[in-house]
Amino acid sequence: MKLWGGRFTKETNQLVHNFNASLSFDQKFYDQDIRGSIAHVTMLAKQGILTDTERDEIIAGLKGILADIENGTLAFDAESEDIHSFVEAHLIERIGDTGKKLHTGRSRNDQVALDMKLYTRDEIVELNQLLKTLMEELYKIISTNTETFMPGFTHLQKAQPVSLSHHLSAYFEMFKRDRSRLCDIYERMNYCPLGSGALAGTTYPLDRAYTASLLDFAGPTLNSMDSVSDRDYIIELLSALSTVMMHLSRFCEEIIIWNTNEYRFVDIDDAYSTGSSIMPQKKNPDIAELIRGKTGRVYGALISILTTMKGLPLAYNKDMQEDKEFTFDAIDTVKGCIALFTGMLSTMKFNNEVMEASAKNGFTNATDAADYLVNHGVPFRDAHGIIGQLVLTCIDKDCSLDELPLSEYQAICPAFGEDIYEAISMKTCVEKRNTIGAPGVQAMKEVIECYREYLDTPNVCDTKQN
Ligand code: ARG
Repeated sequence: MKLWGGRFTKETNQLVHNFNASLSFDQKFYDQDIRGSIAHVTMLAKQGILTDTERDEIIAGLKGILADIENGTLAFDAESEDIHSFVEAHLIERIGDTGKKLHTGRSRNDQVALDMKLYTRDEIVELNQLLKTLMEELYKIISTNTETFMPGFTHLQKAQPVSLSHHLSAYFEMFKRDRSRLCDIYERMNYCPLGSGALAGTTYPLDRAYTASLLDFAGPTLNSMDSVSDRDYIIELLSALSTVMMHLSRFCEEIIIWNTNEYRFVDIDDAYSTGSSIMPQKKNPDIAELIRGKTGRVYGALISILTTMKGLPLAYNKDMQEDKEFTFDAIDTVKGCIALFTGMLSTMKFNNEVMEASAKNGFTNATDAADYLVNHGVPFRDAHGIIGQLVLTCIDKDCSLDELPLSEYQAICPAFGEDIYEAISMKTCVEKRNTIGAPGVQAMKEVIECYREYLDTPNVCDTKQN
């Protein structure tokens, strides 16, 4: 059934119908559409625009439609233009003329604006939860590996020793920001557009604040033209999701490197790896690669909506129907990636000895050796030169600084004593770095306490979870 046949004398061209229709994808928010309609008629009855009996009939009809969609007895047919027409047509079919009153004081423009907001709002709550689950897994590894030493890198060259806790806590920080961005978006978008009509409000005495409160919004939006054409929250969400993917992708890149035969810092579990059809020895990190790859897809969604919106005059334009498919795809992609990543991380084995040996073999304690000389009165620039020479000696002898005999040290600089070995041990190198945010065990313990408290304190989205 069409909602707008009255002023037309010809049938719609079939290709036009197909091109114009959105039911194939906006059926995704049938639940939100029906929830919005129930709130709308509840408000209409409170305002005396519908009788209580009409309200009850409509709500019962809507609930029946919802149940039938969910139990599979009501299928989405290709005839309806969109989810809004679909629900209304079926309501009229089921309850007759009363059903025709549902759309009083409403347009599909404010209706779709509401549905999309309700949908993304629900998804934000879920995304926040998925990130939290990931962070709980990360927390387990961080809190138990403060003394698992590994090389820290710059330019992908070994730089200074850190701990596994410290390295992974960098990602914990990133995900903390991701969750806080989701909460910001939630709060900023949480105003109800319903009652804005097509663009200029309505002449009915609607109680928009009441509808907003029924749907758990902070209040009604304050400009009807903006309400029907605002898609900022989608742009913000896709931007936040792009950042989530960027973080996951960087993490995946590190895991892929760590999982190589050359590094062997980690072993990805068999359940999260795949094989080769030709090379029997292969065990590939496909999941990490796919997450890295899907990042492009989410960025694409962001660029797509930004481009769609850039030339649109106020108020509603059909271009905005293009906000949905990419957004849905991006949300589903990110949800899948976070869940898969969490599984991969929690089953992954860290090869602590390999990481520690790698930190020792890469002269990551060279800065500490220079600092040792500084503490013995040698100016830093000279100390830098002296340690540089010692590194060359080690390369020549194929040994680490820890393995070089004291005589070699003293041959270059008499300031060296037996305590140099203690000063450049992995444990000392890491432990001495105890300013907050540094890898020192004590510093990390304080950070880990903050993380526990962070995870135990619900954020805005946690409190909205059903
Ligand atoms: N399917 C449309 C969308 O997604 C719903 C709003 C239609 N409004 C209109 N005036 N044609 O944007």
